[in-house]
Amino acid sequence: MKQIPMLDLKLEYEYMKEAIDASIKKCLEHQKWILGPEVKELEEKIADYAGIKHCIGVASGTDALLLSLRALALKTKGEEYFSRSDFIITTPFTFTATGDAILRAGATPLFVDIDPETFNISPVKIKEALSKYKGKAVGVIPVHLYGNPCDMDKITAIAKENNIFVAEDCAQSFGAKWSGKRTGSFGDAGCFSFFPSKNLGAFGDAGAVVTDCDETAELIRMLIKHGGKDKYDAEHIGYNSRLDTIQAAVLLAKFKYADGFNEKRRKIAEIYNENLKNINWIKLPVEQKNGYHVYHQYTVRLKEGKGKRDELQKYLSENGVQTAAYYPLSLYKMKVFKKRCEIYGSLKNSEISASSVLSLPVEPLMENGKAQSAADYIKLFRL
Ligand SMILES: Cc1ncc(COP(=O)(O)O)c(C=O)c1O
Repeated sequence: MKQIPMLDLKLEYEYMKEAIDASIKKCLEHQKWILGPEVKELEEKIADYAGIKHCIGVASGTDALLLSLRALALKTKGEEYFSRSDFIITTPFTFTATGDAILRAGATPLFVDIDPETFNISPVKIKEALSKYKGKAVGVIPVHLYGNPCDMDKITAIAKENNIFVAEDCAQSFGAKWSGKRTGSFGDAGCFSFFPSKNLGAFGDAGAVVTDCDETAELIRMLIKHGGKDKYDAEHIGYNSRLDTIQAAVLLAKFKYADGFNEKRRKIAEIYNENLKNINWIKLPVEQKNGYHVYHQYTVRLKEGKGKRDELQKYLSENGVQTAAYYPLSLYKMKVFKKRCEIYGSLKNSEISASSVLSLPVEPLMENGKAQSAADYIKLFRL
């Protein structure tokens, strides 16, 4: 049976082998494993790509979020951490790390519902929540889920009116754009993950923060190195969260392929769109007028709900088509958040999505026939 994996990193490595091997070889020769020249080169490339002043390489996307929040607490409050009475608005329909970073920065996540069309946090709900939590909400973390950008015009305008910060979770949106500008370049900080499966992925954990603010950048540079400009004289409660030289080397080699690969992802999405458009029990992903979606995931929603999603997933797996449910449990339902979060209004759309979404294979290098065949299996599935 033909297997159709979600992603095929071996295939991608073969495709870029020469560039990656050469980049790693340079590191083997210079042996500068901590903050070697590749880290600086990558930071400059990403800052330039995002059209933003600073980029700081960090150890993971989770750390990118945490470090941004810690720097924003220092900048806006003059405190090492936020306090539990500081609320940070975000979506419950995201990966654990988004909410976890808020808790670890000392604040309380305030979950508001998503827009059922895009699966992204609803600007209307952010605005409503802010009128209820006036003076208590200090920031918002929009997540560009599946690579589909949030409406950053609306979100930044609301944040400005309410004097709160914006930290973008761009873990899934490397290369995505809103109104022609890259995600990550709208907020006070943009947080990227280079986890191996991401649109730009390392050979292990890696991440980066981009920001236009000199103070935020300087604070993050301190926090990644034990909290001081000089690690033998720390000023803040810091971490060891530097981006490894070898990961930067891999990322530098893969960087040149990133835009082309995003285009390939978009082509696969077109094949799915074309082939699935007439199935009346499935809702296809939407592209927004001002958005450039990079399809970290191509995610459909079953109008019939959970049982059927799980049945479809099982049926596809039996036919060699790998799929995933991102995410099966909204954050506010997880034990860790239950007693530590605040909820604004109904989270109905997050709830429905958690039980009915399914992501299909989007390997940039997969033959078009594979997307076609995955779609054909879906067409044959009977509800
Ligand atoms: C939306 C989102 N936020 C944060 C993260 C955390 O990134 P990392 O795994 O690099 O720590 C991820 C990915 O794993 C993610 O998908």
